[in-house]
Amino acid sequence: MTDQVAMPREPYAGYHQPHDVREDAELTHIGPNTPCGEYLRRFWQPVCLTEQLTDLPLALTIMGEDLVAFRDKAGQIGVLNRHCSHRGTSLEYGIVSDRGIRCCYHGWLFDVDGTILETPGEPPDSRLKDSFVHGAYPTREFKGLVFVYMGPPGTMPEFPVFDTLELPDNEMIPYAIHYPCNWLQVNENPVDPYHSVFLHSRVTEAHFNVSWGALPVVEWHVKEGGKGVHLTNTRRWKDYLWTRINEWVAPNFAQTPDIYQNPDREKFFVRAGLSKWAVPVDDTNTMIIAWRHFNDELDLDGKSDRSDIGLNKVDFLGQTGARSYEDGQRIPGDYEAQVGQGPINIHALGNLGYTDTGVALLRRTLREGIRAVQEGNDPPTIPPTNSGHVPTQCGDVIVNVGSLSEDRELQAKIGRAMGKIITETESLPYRERKAEIEKRAKAYVSEL
Ligand code: FES
Ligand SMILES: [Fe+2]
Repeated sequence: MTDQVAMPREPYAGYHQPHDVREDAELTHIGPNTPCGEYLRRFWQPVCLTEQLTDLPLALTIMGEDLVAFRDKAGQIGVLNRHCSHRGTSLEYGIVSDRGIRCCYHGWLFDVDGTILETPGEPPDSRLKDSFVHGAYPTREFKGLVFVYMGPPGTMPEFPVFDTLELPDNEMIPYAIHYPCNWLQVNENPVDPYHSVFLHSRVTEAHFNVSWGALPVVEWHVKEGGKGVHLTNTRRWKDYLWTRINEWVAPNFAQTPDIYQNPDREKFFVRAGLSKWAVPVDDTNTMIIAWRHFNDELDLDGKSDRSDIGLNKVDFLGQTGARSYEDGQRIPGDYEAQVGQGPINIHALGNLGYTDTGVALLRRTLREGIRAVQEGNDPPTIPPTNSGHVPTQCGDVIVNVGSLSEDRELQAKIGRAMGKIITETESLPYRERKAEIEKRAKAYVSEL
């Protein structure tokens, strides 16, 4: 952990800025055998889109490890150590085979689990191929994404199916975007709702909807046992009180409600607009690997564009490095704000305030998880409900409060009540939960 350094107090203090301050390695270094790397390896991580698995192998780097991913002709997905365990040729030049992948150099054939099936140049009685295995990781394909478990085999957790990922009548389109910076600064963004007011609204122009510029009342909640953080972000907009719940599930999953939400009518628990992971590539590169959601309740103003979602693209402003440098300067977005923190944000040079409460809670939660794993414990995870889904809270509730006072204390009270209703109903199936939230939210407001 890095301590805050003393900051200068007089103007024109450039010369006195601290220069020899390093990043917080405990939270930011993710390679093999690092504390954070070991912690992150205890969770299933998405590594690519299934559409990237063609007839050619895909070179990947995940958490500092060079890998190759492929789908063999029998349909099995393999994620293997990239360098051939014969003499190190990269398997990105391998031949995807009926079963497994064949190294181009001397034809060794590797199955998806790393078993060496053939060493064709060796004598027929050679036992070399049976004397060891090639490095491989378990995989899981889910809704257009490929997930990998890179931790110790004995501690592999259940694959978590979050409730938002199997909603009825909900379409999910996968996407993946490269961010050339450390994973943590990408991971932190969803628990910082104040950037929506400034970056996405007031500082240049409204990126999504003008209502985002209303200063909200925000309260953060650590999920019991250090399993994540969610927040109630409550705004008054005309006759409506809009409570928005963003959430982060440790270590690197986050959900944001409707990107194009417009609080122009009552809505009761419209769920995630996107679900995403911030997956470390190495210490200074990250992939956002995610889905955009589409259903009849999201994006009622029709601003989304399905055709603009996929590899290195998503259909809202400022999310990728594809714009020109000048465009990024004129209307900066999430990409510029996060990548612009530098290759690895140096926490000791920052000065957190009240609005960064979520960031501080997230860092503390991660540190506790990292240390728990170092001490030989399993990191905390959210258990599924009877439906088999891991319950989440992300969503928007918009209630008509008419001419009710605009007092911010009252706003906070209503937001808190909406958040409580949402968490208290988490074990109900989706439609029942939604109906219950509507009933209870309306009853609460009518009694104010
Ligand atoms: S280096 Fe791969 S088979 Fe020889
Ligand atoms: Fe943002």
